[in-house]
Amino acid sequence: MSTVTRTETTPRADAGAGPEAAPLLELEGVGKTFGHIRALDGISLTVGAGEVTCILGDNGAGKSTLIKIIAGLYKPTSGRYLVDGEPVDFSSPRQALDRGIATVYQDLAMVPLMPVWRNFFLGSELRKGVGPFRMLDSVRMRRIADEELKKMGIDLPDIEAPVGNLSGGQRQVVAIARAVYFGARVLILDEPTAALGVKQSGVVLKYVNAARDAGLGVIFITHNPHHAYLVGDHFAVIKLGEMELDQPRSALTLDDLTHHMAGGAELDALQHELKRGEAPEVEPPHDAGREGPDVQTR
Ligand SMILES: Nc1ncnc2c1ncn2[C@@H]1O[C@H](COP(=O)(O)OP(=O)(O)O)[C@@H](O)[C@H]1O
Ligand SMILES: [Mg+2]
Repeated sequence: MSTVTRTETTPRADAGAGPEAAPLLELEGVGKTFGHIRALDGISLTVGAGEVTCILGDNGAGKSTLIKIIAGLYKPTSGRYLVDGEPVDFSSPRQALDRGIATVYQDLAMVPLMPVWRNFFLGSELRKGVGPFRMLDSVRMRRIADEELKKMGIDLPDIEAPVGNLSGGQRQVVAIARAVYFGARVLILDEPTAALGVKQSGVVLKYVNAARDAGLGVIFITHNPHHAYLVGDHFAVIKLGEMELDQPRSALTLDDLTHHMAGGAELDALQHELKRGEAPEVEPPHDAGREGPDVQTR
C-alpha cells in the first residue's frame, strides 16, 4: 500500500475556488537580504487551494528562507505577500497560523516518549471541568486523534504507542493529519522526505495527496525531482535566490524537471567533458557493479 498513484486534481467545490476567487497565497517580487547576503530576489509565486506546489532548489538556493517568509518567521525586505488577495505583514508564525498557514518542519515538534494521541494534541490539549479542577480530556483526545487519522486513511496499529516507536514517515504523516485537523488551509512541508528511504517517502507522498484532496494548498519543499513529480501540480525551481522556473505540470516532463535540478547547462558541459574518452588518471573505484562517475547522463 505504499505506492503513490497520482489522481488528477479536482479542487473541492467548497475550497473557494470560484473563477474570481483570489489564490490562497501570492508573493509578488519578494526579496530577502541578511546584511550583505541576498538570500532571495524578485520571487513571485501563487499557491492555489487543492493543489501541490513544489519548491525545488539546491542547497543554499533559498528554499528555507522562502518558506520562513510564508510561515511568518521572516519579513520580506522587498515585495508583497498576499493571503486571500489581501496584503499581510506577519510578525510571527502565530499570525500566519491564525490565517491557516501551517508548517511541518523537518525536526518535528514531537515528544518521542508520549503516545501518538498526546502528540496529536501537543500544545492544544483538550480539557474538561472548570477552574482549578480542569484536567486533560484524554478520552476525547484519544477518540478524535483516532478518528482524524482514520479519516485520512492513516492506519496506525496503536495510538497509545509512543511516537518514538513510529517510523520517520509515520511521524510526518501524524504531523500532516494534525495540521489538517487544526484547520490548516496551507500546509508547508520542509523536505519531509529528505531523511527517508523509498518506502517511507512513498507513505509521506500519499498523505501529501490526501491533504491536497482535502482542499488544502500544499507547499512541498524538496530537492528530489522524482518525489516532486509524483505529487506536484505546479513546480517552482529556485536557484541562487531567484526563480529559475515556474511551471504547471502540464508544461513540464519529469525529464525537464530533473534537468533543471541537475543544473541543466552545467551538466551538459560536464557530460561533454566526460565523453572525450581520455583514460582517467586515477584507478577506478573498487565498487562492483558501477561504471564511471556517478553522474546522470541523458
Ligand atoms: N539567518 C541567516 N543569516 C544569514 N544568511 C542566511 C540566513 N539564512 C539563510 N542565509 C543564506 O541565504 C541563502 C539561502 O539559504 P536557505 O534559504 O537556507 O537555502 P536552502 O533552504 O535552499 O538550502 C544561503 O546563502 C544562506 O547562507
Ligand atoms: Mg533549507
